[in-house]
Amino acid sequence: TVIRREDYAAPAYWIRSVELTFDLDPVKTLVTNRMQVERNPHATTQTLRLDGEDLNLLRVLVNGESVSFRVENQQLVLENLPAESFTLELRNTCSPEKNTQLSGLYTSSGGFFTQCEAQGFRRITYFLDRPDVMAVYTVTLKADRAKYPVLLSNGNLVEQGPLDNGKHYAKWHDPFPKPSYLFALVAAKLVCREQKIRAASGREHLLQVYVRAGDLDKTEHAMHSLIASVAWDERRFGLSLDLDRFMIVAVSDFNMGAMENKGLNIFNTKYVLANPATATDVDHAGIESVVGHEYFHNWTGNRVTCRDWFQLSLKEGLTVFRDQEFSQDLAGTPSARAVKRIDDVRTLRQHQFPEDAGPMAHPVRPDSYLAIDNFYTATVYDKGAEVVRMMQTLVGRDGFARGMTLYFERHDGQAVTCDDFAQAIADANPGSALAHKLEQFKRWYSQAGTPRVAARGLYNAEMRTYTLELSQHCPPTPGQSEKQPFVIPVALGLVGRNAQPLPLQLVGENAPAGTERVLVLSEAAQRFEFTGIEVEPVPSLLRGFSAPVILEDTLSDADLLTLLAHDADPFNRWEAGQRLALNRLLAAIKGDGVLQLDGAYVDAMRAVIRHPALDAAFKELVLTLPGESYIAEQLEEVDPQRIHAVRESMRLQLAHALHAEWEWAYEVHQDQGGYSPDPVSTGRRALVSLSLAYLCLAAAEKQVPLWPGKAYQRFKDAGNMTDRLGALSALVGAHSELAAPALERFHAMFRDEALVVDKWFALQATAPEKGGRVFARVKTLMSHPDFSLRNPNRARSLVTALCFSNPAAFHRTDAAGYVFWAERVLELDAINPQLAARLARAMDRWKQLAEPYRSAAREAIARVAAKGELSDDVREIVTRALAD
Ligand code: ARG
Ligand code: ZN
Repeated sequence: TVIRREDYAAPAYWIRSVELTFDLDPVKTLVTNRMQVERNPHATTQTLRLDGEDLNLLRVLVNGESVSFRVENQQLVLENLPAESFTLELRNTCSPEKNTQLSGLYTSSGGFFTQCEAQGFRRITYFLDRPDVMAVYTVTLKADRAKYPVLLSNGNLVEQGPLDNGKHYAKWHDPFPKPSYLFALVAAKLVCREQKIRAASGREHLLQVYVRAGDLDKTEHAMHSLIASVAWDERRFGLSLDLDRFMIVAVSDFNMGAMENKGLNIFNTKYVLANPATATDVDHAGIESVVGHEYFHNWTGNRVTCRDWFQLSLKEGLTVFRDQEFSQDLAGTPSARAVKRIDDVRTLRQHQFPEDAGPMAHPVRPDSYLAIDNFYTATVYDKGAEVVRMMQTLVGRDGFARGMTLYFERHDGQAVTCDDFAQAIADANPGSALAHKLEQFKRWYSQAGTPRVAARGLYNAEMRTYTLELSQHCPPTPGQSEKQPFVIPVALGLVGRNAQPLPLQLVGENAPAGTERVLVLSEAAQRFEFTGIEVEPVPSLLRGFSAPVILEDTLSDADLLTLLAHDADPFNRWEAGQRLALNRLLAAIKGDGVLQLDGAYVDAMRAVIRHPALDAAFKELVLTLPGESYIAEQLEEVDPQRIHAVRESMRLQLAHALHAEWEWAYEVHQDQGGYSPDPVSTGRRALVSLSLAYLCLAAAEKQVPLWPGKAYQRFKDAGNMTDRLGALSALVGAHSELAAPALERFHAMFRDEALVVDKWFALQATAPEKGGRVFARVKTLMSHPDFSLRNPNRARSLVTALCFSNPAAFHRTDAAGYVFWAERVLELDAINPQLAARLARAMDRWKQLAEPYRSAAREAIARVAAKGELSDDVREIVTRALAD
């Protein structure tokens, strides 16, 4: 059944405290659940309905007496309950071993782990499994001592000791009331790295990272990231760790990235384990931001949580914003900060923009859902973070910090809504544009779709004025045909033709307000007139990507070249380079399919590579062409094969035209000294790998063995995974003859490192398609002994990688990719509906496809939809995809 936001009602009862006892056994775990319950005097009903799923209920006692009950639609229904506070004691069993969904209590590599967000707790015991019911938890774990030496739950360890029959127990108490989705337990054979820290507050904390015995040498980076997170939240927002002990546990079977359970974060191994030999720079950065993210949830999510799941972005949008700021602050230099910003915007455009343009488009605060797990989306997370970022832009960095302080003053310990958050930020900044336009600003929470901002500049040489006309419109999305104007902060600068930043003085102002400022566009159309503009400028709009919109301006090639060469804003400098590339790609795709690279573009790219002052990381970003899916988003009708062919042709021409530059860049950016994942060395390695990819590409065409040979050597001798994988992917990407032996060698070297084997699969699944061989290889790999759909990381490394990240291999004129997709979705749905539904979304944009893709895609989706026994998760996705 569909759940609607407008139907929210407070619960009929509160559960104030809960004592859980677990007799852990993989086949049948016994759960004893003693709750202190009281009526909510404001509720209309007195019937208590507790959520449960796949449970075996053994008994129900109210104040120690058995009572009559019924189970209805999986809910335990109790009537005629005492008017006063009472004890409700339940006993039930569940089967962790059979839990392939990885929601609730499950086993992984012989240990017990939980995942309760959003609705996994009801798969452990009956409960009011909703975030506005907050209870104090006391948890006793009993398990075989030899098999499960480590027993963990939230909060503080109260006691532990031996039991009969080779068992032992541990009792944990979490003093902070929390919703059930933040409950966690772990019982497994693990080891830990630990460190005591003294926080700025003076308080001592014990930090621990738990992993399997062989992985201890891969925990240093996660521990460093955790220490940095604690320090950052104190420094930037005055928020300190509120527990004596903070634990991270890594598990190799996990649906998502990680989970912020109070005091006991549970992580996908992918976001914990790293050493230079097995993890790339990108992996290191991912760990830093996810460790930060989950830690920051302790305040934004746990201390203040969501009233209901429609408010998910209250914690996720805000916490993504916080982890982005954390990584930027750690990066340090303006250039390194910009690199992180560009990365985040690329992610947003690659995932969230298509989502907002397709059948799953939904507001940051959705209005309805069938399966809540389908709404852990790029919109809720990444667009939600942009909405928070716009608030910070409108009130300033200090104003935003004041707003956060007020938010916690008002709501610490509560379950609240997105309105409460926005209100606190606005109230702390009464004079701000946010406060003046708060109701309108909140349309960002209620209206789906990516707004388009059109900009036109008019220079009046005689009057020395520059008039900027801005207008906005937002295309319709499912269920929302009309949109009202948004509040859009437009950060801008004006770049003179002589490359000087011009002072920005609006008509009517006494003096210029610097060379960069933020205009607030809140009407459908507005004009801004600048005075004292001595030369015709090039506008640099939406600096730092100040709003999640699509900018439609009228900049010429010459304007873009000016910005690429001279813009003081690194984001727009990068953007200008991307647009120069995109203009060429789109012209060829829409035209005769032939792309002939021009001297102006090549010279501009050469100037970037050779630039004495730009960082390598930034150069690498500029020289990486827009991805095939991003190109597709710019088109009315999409022919994935044509996009691929044109983009490959441009890559090849760049490889040849800049051959000397790639050689130079390859040589001068080699690592000196040991490995460190800092922004500078990371950037250098990225540029080296890109250069090597281009050099191998050029060589492949001319059949010169020199560079592939060098790449193979580098692959063999590499001192770290970043360089090794970079060289391997250069060989694979150029379809070199050395690719196959290198891949074989790579597998042999790392067959026991699951996360590296994932890379091995993913690299093959995302190789540039050539005559169908990549697709064929993926089908063969499905029966590789190391492949399994049951492990989410492994399933993603092959299936998701093909369907989402390799358009040319996936979208085939013979429809074989779609048939493959439909089979895998159905196969996965029987194992893990959450994962199946994620994969189902690979077809989101099918309506945009040209024939014959379009009809074949519709047929494949219809085939999945026609299947009788679908999970709610998958049904919601395919139903929406087929709706008109
Ligand atoms: N709260 C987690 C995070 O963002 C994500 C957990 C989502 N899990 C799920 N099954 N939907 O850090
Ligand atoms: Zn989160």
